[in-house]
Amino acid sequence: MNMSSQIEKTQAQLLKHHGGNGYQASLMIANSYDVRHDHAFWQFWDETVACHYQSGDGVLDLGAGIGQFVRDCANRYPESSVYGIDAATYMVNDAVILPDNATILLDDLNSPQAAIPANSLGMVMANNMVHELTQPIKMFKATYQWLKPGGRFCIIDPIRQPLQQQFDKAYSQKQLWGDETSVEALENAFEYFLEHNRYHAEDLIYLLESAGFKVADNSTLLKGKFIRLVVEK
Ligand SMILES: C[S@@+](CC[C@H](N)C(=O)[O-])C[C@H]1O[C@@H](n2cnc3c(N)ncnc32)[C@H](O)[C@@H]1O
Repeated sequence: MNMSSQIEKTQAQLLKHHGGNGYQASLMIANSYDVRHDHAFWQFWDETVACHYQSGDGVLDLGAGIGQFVRDCANRYPESSVYGIDAATYMVNDAVILPDNATILLDDLNSPQAAIPANSLGMVMANNMVHELTQPIKMFKATYQWLKPGGRFCIIDPIRQPLQQQFDKAYSQKQLWGDETSVEALENAFEYFLEHNRYHAEDLIYLLESAGFKVADNSTLLKGKFIRLVVEK
């Protein structure tokens, strides 16, 4: 498949994953950004991800959405080139105003092509995006290549939960079991479950170790619904 049809295929999948409403999806991540990046988050970042960072190392946010994390890293690390990558035009075209040392690149992380020099990055983030990829192997390989030895990669992503936990939170008994519930509504509910419950923590660790990384830190967030891994090249 050529590169333009590859990214178009991913864009169509993403729009479906985002419920057919790209603007609404961008609002959701924009509105939850400050809560997810509070004082405790930045303390974790400084101590566990930025611990080997040296002034001038590049920084990359994979699945950068509208670029809030790219903007904040560019302000924190003014000597660094800070990149964000996203495939959705409704995210990239709606990006926040960025400092001069920041760039958002349109690229498909199912098959990354971005021209980032090997061994040039000190830190990489993939926040809430690995589960959206059709497969993460090409992205993990590219990240390994782009990171310098000792560079750190932070992955935050939903991990598998029992079906009941998700259904009890999202739907009433009637919405699932009522006679008037459509097959389409049920298909959407089960598809949403599968898309957000793809990996166990061990699956992600297995893939990252296979790519060559060593696990430096491993914790869970939101009562075990998310894993937060830090791995090192
Ligand atoms: C749930 S959002 C998270 C955004 C941001 N990381 C945050 O935490 O606010 C996932 C992002 O990953 C992007 N994404 C998903 N699959 C992608 C792919 N194959 N290539 C590039 N970006 C992708 C989506 O467009 C979306 O902006």
